Amino acid sequence: MPVKGTFFVETYGCQMNEHDSQKMCELLQKQGFSKAGAIEQADVIVINTCAIREKAEHKVYSSLGSLRSAKIEKPQTVIVVAGCVAQQKKHEFLRKFRHLDLVLGTHQISQLPSLVSRILEKRERIAAVEFVDNIESLHMSAPNYSSSPICSYVTIMQGCSNFCSYCVVPYTRGKESSRSLEEIQEEVSGLATKGIREITLLGQNVNAYGKDLYNFRRFDDLLQRLSSIGGIERIRFTTSHPKDFDSALVEAIASIDKVCEHIHLPLQSGSDKVLKDMKRGYCLNDYFEKIELLRTKVPKCAVTSDIIVGFPGESEEDFEDTLNALQKIRFDQIFSFKYSSRPGTIAQGMPDQIPEETKRERLAKVHALQDSITEAWHRDMEGSIQQALVEGSGRLPDQFHGRTRTNKIVNFDDNGSLSLGDLVNVRVTKGLKHSLLGSIV
Ligand code: 5AD
Ligand code: SF4
Repeated sequence: MPVKGTFFVETYGCQMNEHDSQKMCELLQKQGFSKAGAIEQADVIVINTCAIREKAEHKVYSSLGSLRSAKIEKPQTVIVVAGCVAQQKKHEFLRKFRHLDLVLGTHQISQLPSLVSRILEKRERIAAVEFVDNIESLHMSAPNYSSSPICSYVTIMQGCSNFCSYCVVPYTRGKESSRSLEEIQEEVSGLATKGIREITLLGQNVNAYGKDLYNFRRFDDLLQRLSSIGGIERIRFTTSHPKDFDSALVEAIASIDKVCEHIHLPLQSGSDKVLKDMKRGYCLNDYFEKIELLRTKVPKCAVTSDIIVGFPGESEEDFEDTLNALQKIRFDQIFSFKYSSRPGTIAQGMPDQIPEETKRERLAKVHALQDSITEAWHRDMEGSIQQALVEGSGRLPDQFHGRTRTNKIVNFDDNGSLSLGDLVNVRVTKGLKHSLLGSIV
């Protein structure tokens, strides 16, 4: 196929966005475009945006602003904004940014090639932002434009129907919708054939997988079936929701060898009052009980989480409850955020919004506490033997890095016979703040 030109996809935000960007790259490649070395050189530029916090949204505006001159220099360049901000702003974006050609909604990814062709032929400016009912049309079979030849994401569901009071995702990605089990199995088999050894199943709330399907499926059943696919050595999944996290999933992690011992289970706050205002659907005690069950059945399981500080109405006592919960649970790692008011969400209109300065102070306290807990976990691992999947070069020359089953990065010296995708046993020689050092056993 003759090369039509070049493309560049810039990604902001979560793993879901990263994976969507991979799909867009694959689609553009199939259409005859090749990857540009730099954004300004590309003939088709896609900015895949994130709306989850205001800061992420602002990056889109600065990116778009700096592309104005690229468009003036080369007017035939096609400029696309995709992702959650595109879904929210719709036609408004076309009005505001005259150099923008296409606003591509979250359900319209598969339409990218035909829309780009239309723009190139007719120089139309288009907003494609409809939600579609049939999730199958959102996905290509076995997309495989991955930054890694070893690990791949697999979308198992899209959207979210939880409507946590602070969150924009249900508005930007639509309602929860699961892919069929057969389609997922087919995709994973295809990936295994191409040499992928580790898959990460993606969804906003993977524990709700299959509840919306006419032939009702269970997430633990999906794990069981995928584990029988030869070539796939490790299965991960994210994100889990505490309200739907159940004993069947704990059983699956405990009994299916390929399912890694790591769960990302966002707590968000340690205060029952705040959890209620967030509409999370569980209280702190429910959460403790689930973690206790998990750690009893899978003692080595790593648990990571998300925390929001400064939610409207969060008092000093509420915040102390969060610090106490962090101390009690001792997560392996957390992602923590200052609450960010998002348009259209229930929390936006709540009284007692917290001043920025207070949010900043609270976030710093959370960081300091969690950093010490994470480092302590890493030090506790010194001397232990961990299985690592070799994923790439390490921090130093002649080093490789891999991830343990518990999702921790470990750097180790090459023994001269390692290849990407090997599973090796590594003895942890040093636990650092953000990673581990090890040597091959
Ligand atoms: N403000 C701050 N953090 C948010 N998150 C989602 N919405 C907001 C918001 N409005 C965080 C939650 C979620 C993670 C992906 O992003 O912690 O789990
Ligand atoms: Fe947002 Fe809550 Fe859905 Fe997560 S579960 S995507 S925080 S609405």
